[in-house]
Amino acid sequence: MFNTNLPTTEIIQQRFSCRVYNPEPIPADKRQQLQAFIAGLSPGPFGLKPRFDLLAATQEDSQSLRGLGTYGFIKNAPAFIVGAMTPADFWLEDFGYLMETIILYATSLALGTCWLGGTFTKSRFAQKLHLAADEVMPAITSVGEFAAPGQMRQGQISQIAGSHHRLPWEVLFFKDQLQTPISPEEAGDYAAVLDMVRLAPSASNKQPWRIIKHRDLWRFYLQRTPGYAKGVLNKLLDISDLQRVDMGIAMCHFELTAHALGLNGVWVIEDSIEKYPEEMPEYLVSWRSQP
Ligand SMILES: Cc1cc2nc3c(=O)[nH]c(=O)nc-3n(C[C@H](O)[C@H](O)[C@H](O)COP(=O)(O)O)c2cc1C
Repeated sequence: MFNTNLPTTEIIQQRFSCRVYNPEPIPADKRQQLQAFIAGLSPGPFGLKPRFDLLAATQEDSQSLRGLGTYGFIKNAPAFIVGAMTPADFWLEDFGYLMETIILYATSLALGTCWLGGTFTKSRFAQKLHLAADEVMPAITSVGEFAAPGQMRQGQISQIAGSHHRLPWEVLFFKDQLQTPISPEEAGDYAAVLDMVRLAPSASNKQPWRIIKHRDLWRFYLQRTPGYAKGVLNKLLDISDLQRVDMGIAMCHFELTAHALGLNGVWVIEDSIEKYPEEMPEYLVSWRSQP
């Protein structure tokens, strides 16, 4: 599904949230490649496929973001990737997974991107996508050429230098139970896969993903940030549960890296696991590694 000349791990390390763009439209060849990639997307791991589109932007679009519950200041974005879907089980996870594959593809074309979570349902973005009454747009992504030639390299350097502020391994990845961090040696071939999950973008950089290895299974859990999704402000603004979108993004980084490294596996939902255990993060899904 993901076919570029650059290794996936390199693309993931190059990506960062770009908030200042060259205002010129995206060059036609890159625009066409991005559009073709979007048109050829398969459904996400839960079998759902939101509809996505690449929209050219006007100056007013960037300005209108401020009133839509997003944070940060986006300057001169020449285009936006928008997506919408009728809510269903696991739709936010599939939305996150597929939008992130588009973002990584855009990164491989040397384009800057930034996820923007907010309430877009009544926005000009929704109008342009002809949003249906039962559809929701949980997030959009700004996309365009970098404002300065060195910007991409700088993003890469700050990722590698760790200045992107990620939680340490021992807070994110475990063996058998949450009390036991897994070491990179114990993770074996999957250490590089977990490294790439750690570099995933997440709403407000909360990094809510937790992964517990159990035998041949890598179990994905959501450690909610207290008061975040169901906070008063988000409720008032009708903002989607963005931490579920974050989980889909983590699944995307995990699966794409595993495939790139020749590690096979399938997504399974283990019926035997309680979804909302007491004093534990929420269980979502497991990757069953296969020989
Ligand atoms: C679902 C989601 C929503 C986000 N919303 C915003 C936003 O509204 N404004 C913004 O500037 N960044 C937003 N971000 C970007 C995060 O702040 C960013 O990914 C995180 O701080 C890590 O930095 P990095 O992407 O440069 O690695 C969002 C990211 C995700 C995954």
